[in-house]
Amino acid sequence: MLKDKTIAISGGSGELARVLAREFTLQGANVVLFSRSMSKLQLVADTLPPEQTLAVAADASNAEEVEQVFERAAERFGNVDAVVMSTGSWAQVGIDDSVEDASAHADAHYEAFFKTSFVTSFVAQQVFRAEGHGLIVNISSHAAVKPELTRNLTYGPMKAASFHLMKALRHELKGTGVRVTDIQPATINTPKVAPDKRADAIQPEDIAGWIIEHFNDKDIPESVLMDKTSVML
Ligand SMILES: NC(=O)c1ccc[n+]([C@@H]2O[C@H](COP(=O)([O-])OP(=O)(O)OC[C@H]3O[C@@H](n4cnc5c(N)ncnc54)[C@H](OP(=O)(O)O)[C@@H]3O)[C@@H](O)[C@H]2O)c1
Repeated sequence: MLKDKTIAISGGSGELARVLAREFTLQGANVVLFSRSMSKLQLVADTLPPEQTLAVAADASNAEEVEQVFERAAERFGNVDAVVMSTGSWAQVGIDDSVEDASAHADAHYEAFFKTSFVTSFVAQQVFRAEGHGLIVNISSHAAVKPELTRNLTYGPMKAASFHLMKALRHELKGTGVRVTDIQPATINTPKVAPDKRADAIQPEDIAGWIIEHFNDKDIPESVLMDKTSVML
């Protein structure tokens, strides 16, 4: 279904990216994994078919480095058809934390969840508009639309900002052939999840399946909430 398509994935060494990359390559796609640590990326790349895989060390919040990812991908595979943005890890911030800690988390979550999506999607839309097509997928979180989740004073708002950015981009890109969507999972079943919570968590294969199903959908939904449980990691 994705034969000869090329999909770049930021946060490429992460737990979700690992499953997305596996499922996409099984469907015939090439994957371009990027995140900052090459040694962590290599561990994931080594599990994938070498002829369908490229790993590039890059910070998704650095425009030059993201441009290089697209250039390296084009040299290797011809072009990029889609980008999935899956960077950063979650930390809790609540009203009893010190303002110093809360403020440090606010900075870190801005960098990890908003700036990475901003820079990567900005570069992607420029490349995709020149091609006349392309798909931008942001992995935000159910926290983007559920302010009632506790101890999410920096994660939720930054995820909401990245979702709002996707809505604005989608609006601006109407008629260009570039499509934009936002996926809002609850806790995903990764090795970080406690064994008793795994059955209720969102399966990463279901996220991959949704992207595969909508890969060529001209009317791809603006967002999808994947929320079997409200328990956060
Ligand atoms: N896991 C869940 O339950 C869950 C639920 C809802 C939403 N999400 C979202 O899904 C996404 C993936 O989650 P995950 O569990 O797979 O996370 P993860 O295993 O912690 O992986 C995070 C990845 O992001 C990379 N990263 C961090 N900052 C980066 C930057 N500036 N540039 C490039 N890469 C960067 C990390 O590699 P380096 O440090 O080497 O760069 C790592 O590859 C996140 O956005 C998360 O908020 C996760």
